[in-house]
Amino acid sequence: MLQALTPLKTSTKNRADSASGRKTRHSAASAASKRSRGLDTALLAECRSGWTLPRPFYRDESVYRLDLERVWRTGWLFAGHSCEISEPGSYFTLELDTDSLIVIRGDDGAIHAHHNVCRHRGSLVCAAPTGQVSRLICPYHQWTYSLEGKLIACRGMHAGLDKSQFSLRPARVEEVEGLVFVSLADKPLPFAPARDALAPLLKPQGLRRAKVAKVLDYLVPANWKLLWENNRECYHCNLNHPQYIKANFDHYNADDTTPRVREALNRVVARSEQKRASDRLAPTHRQSGMAVFPDADKNIWFSANRTPLVDGWVSESMDGKQVARLMGDYTDADTGTLRVRALPNFWNHSSCDHGVSTRLLPVGPQQTAVRVCWLVDEKSIEGRDYDLSRLLPFWQLTSEQDWLICERQQKGVNSSAYRPGPYSTFKEYNVASFVKWYLGCVEREA
Ligand code: FES
Ligand code: FE
Repeated sequence: MLQALTPLKTSTKNRADSASGRKTRHSAASAASKRSRGLDTALLAECRSGWTLPRPFYRDESVYRLDLERVWRTGWLFAGHSCEISEPGSYFTLELDTDSLIVIRGDDGAIHAHHNVCRHRGSLVCAAPTGQVSRLICPYHQWTYSLEGKLIACRGMHAGLDKSQFSLRPARVEEVEGLVFVSLADKPLPFAPARDALAPLLKPQGLRRAKVAKVLDYLVPANWKLLWENNRECYHCNLNHPQYIKANFDHYNADDTTPRVREALNRVVARSEQKRASDRLAPTHRQSGMAVFPDADKNIWFSANRTPLVDGWVSESMDGKQVARLMGDYTDADTGTLRVRALPNFWNHSSCDHGVSTRLLPVGPQQTAVRVCWLVDEKSIEGRDYDLSRLLPFWQLTSEQDWLICERQQKGVNSSAYRPGPYSTFKEYNVASFVKWYLGCVEREA
């Protein structure tokens, strides 16, 4: 449960503990001539396809407000895991800008999301970020709501008040195989395509039958888009992630997948396909480099794939060995890694024995709250089935290395000397796609 939260960290650095010159305007620029409510058309016209964004996109309040409106308040946001709220009345809150949501398991067994705003005079109903309650009782005048959000008591109010008119305002919520998503939009994008794409790959991982082994919270001093841009390439991996590159093939691309690397990759893929075809756990991403995501043209904001690990590695751990008991439906450690991502705020890497979820929430133009959450099988006991000293380091190091990268990039981008630079077509194809997806979002009329 989330009660195990560690103190918020204030960036890795400050932690106490621990294409050419051809000016191809972005396709977005074609819309520059159109009216784009809220986005400065001159700024939009400065965006070049395959290049980093102009400075204001990473640092200005006006763009940040637009991001909130057009990306964060329209999309599906990863909120947490269903195993964090497994009992009726268990809840966690989610904060986005000025909004707060209560995500709670109802007496009906379903997960509900309510705006954390009392229908009397607007107080927050849940002040604590997590909890276990039998009813939702506002701390101001004790208006009392059912777990499903219905007003059931308001002692002291005059007769005749129609309680049915004062339910907590609901927000959209969806769960797919243990991952809980919410949306603040009145008419969000359809969730069914995401469910259809993610569920078959997620199911064997058993995240519904997991428990949280550890949560680390960070406040990264960088714009949320810089975190995504960093996430969407492994150009930086050789130098910055010494442990990660031992386990994976992501950092090899069309320019540097040597015959030796290709042979090693082909070998593990062939072995996995032969062994796992019958249980549908064979790799779905069989090439070096990162799986292609997102698809800006089709507005595909979610994806999942199973990727082989290098020979001799069965888990994304420091030595590649299993660090916890097998999860879900797995009967064999040789499962590679399951990778899931959903824009604008979620990615997960899961091995045979544990999963690691990362959730982003913007808290300003140059600040992002990040939660990294380690999951293990629900029956696991710390000290017997896993030790945090072996479970955490791989993704704790990788994450903190990335936050430092983003912090440095934000500082550089803030400089008056910053000018947009080109993305490598070999290695940063996904970054270019992310930027294209993002511009598509902010151009769309809200
Ligand atoms: Fe909640 Fe009055 S504001 S009971
Ligand atoms: Fe990285």
